[in-house]
Parts: sequence; structure tokens; C-alpha cells
Amino acid sequence: MKKIVILTGAGISAESGLGTFRDEGGLWSQHRIEDVATPEGFTRNPLLVHEFYNARRLQATRALPNSAHTALARLEAEHPANVVIITQNVDNLHETAGSRTVLHMHGRLAGALCAKCGHRWDAPDAMQPDDPCPSCTTPAIRPDIVWFGEIPYHMDEIWDHLRDADLFAAIGTSGEVYPAAAFVQDADRNGAHTVELNLEPSSVVSDFSETHFGKATEIVPQWVENLLKG
Ligand code: OAD
Repeated sequence: MKKIVILTGAGISAESGLGTFRDEGGLWSQHRIEDVATPEGFTRNPLLVHEFYNARRLQATRALPNSAHTALARLEAEHPANVVIITQNVDNLHETAGSRTVLHMHGRLAGALCAKCGHRWDAPDAMQPDDPCPSCTTPAIRPDIVWFGEIPYHMDEIWDHLRDADLFAAIGTSGEVYPAAAFVQDADRNGAHTVELNLEPSSVVSDFSETHFGKATEIVPQWVENLLKG
């Protein structure tokens, strides 16, 4: 086995205290996607959008990685295969746990982006609509998050990894958002063994050849342990 590609979603950070989107009481039952996660929502009410991400940034800063994040970092450090994490999460818990190869396809709470000139820099703790871009000075600062209707980041690199994957695992993701939900099909087509690890079956569970259901902090360390045993 030369390459292990792991897709993670909000479920892996749930036990670190960061709410998921679509579980009962999740973020999308408290906020409308159109208001806080689209370019149109940001144009309509930038203050509301900044407040939403400022609160999430504060919460993410206080969160600690759990045993599922740590197990994936251990897998990368100890397995002879090349381990790549593609995450839909905007927190930095994989990196804090020690993972080195992490592609944030939906952006990062820790990043700021100028909507005018495209300059990127480290996000301040709290952003306000009239904060100037440090490069072009336009007050067009936005969170460096991929919103609905925008193209996810690192897609060329991601397709390359999926093409080379010998093992593809999806952890803590509902399979509701594309293109991530279709990665299993791409990996399978290219010959990878596919595994879903989730609290409950995702919308695309039938595309996987192996499944493990339970809490990420229980099933991920166990799965990693077995992979390392060979
Ligand atoms: P969702 O909220 O859609 O799904 C979370 C998944 O995690 C569900 O399938 C749960 O069953 C599972 N889950 C919950 N608790 C868990 C636990 N303790 N252990 C294991 N699994 C658990 O989150 P995502 O699939 O990540 O995008 O959502 C994908 C994208 O939709 C997000 O990146 C975000 C959102 O809109 C943008 O904002 C662009």
C-alpha cells in the first residue's frame, strides 16, 4: 500500500465540542445557509456573516483535538504509506494533533481573504466589515472559507491523490455536499479499497466496500491500530 487518502468532515470534531451542520441541533438548524454561507448572503449582510464566523473562530480556538485526530496523526507518522488528509473542516484540529499533510478544501477559520484583490493573511480573532485589506486597503475582508456556489480549494491536487489512492476512508461526513461526497466513487473507480467510518450510515454509504459505525473517538483509533498492525 503506497497511499492512504482520508476525507474528514464535521463528525470527527464533534467530540472536541465543535457542532456538526446537519445533526439534530446542528449549525444549519440554527442559521440559514443562504444567509451565512453564500457570497450573496455576505453581500447582503456582511456584519451577520462576520459575527457567525467570529463566533466559530473563537470556539475553534478553544477546542482541543480528540483521539480520532491524534490517531490519524499517528497513522501518518508510523505507516509506511503516504497519508493524505482532505478535510472539509475549517478548524485546525488535524494540524494541532500533529498531522502534516492536510488539505482544507473548504478553507480555514484561521485565514482571511480580501474579496477585492485576493490577498490572504492570518485572520484576526474578530473581523469587521470595514477592516481594510493589509495589501490593497479596500474594506473587503472576508473569512477564507469556501461558500456554497464557490469552487473548493486544492481540487487538482485532490484528484491526483484520489487517482493514486490504494485506500480511501471517509470519516464523520454526511455525504450531502459535493464534490466531497463523490470522492468515494472516484477512489473506487481507480481501484482503492473504500471505508466509511461514521456515527451512522451517510447518504453515500452504499458506495463503500467496508463500514464502521460509532463515535469517531472509538472507531478511528481502533481502525488505525489495525492498519498499523498490517
Ligand atoms: P454534516 O453535519 O453534514 O455531517 C456530520 C456527520 O458526522 C454525520 O454523518 C454524523 O452522523 C457524523 N457524526 C456526528 N457525530 C459524530 C461522531 N461523534 N463521530 C463520528 N461521526 C459523527 O458535516 P459534513 O459532512 O462535514 O461546508 O458537512 C459537509 C459540509 O457541509 C461542510 O464542510 C460545510 C457544510 O455546509 C461549507 O460550509 C461549505
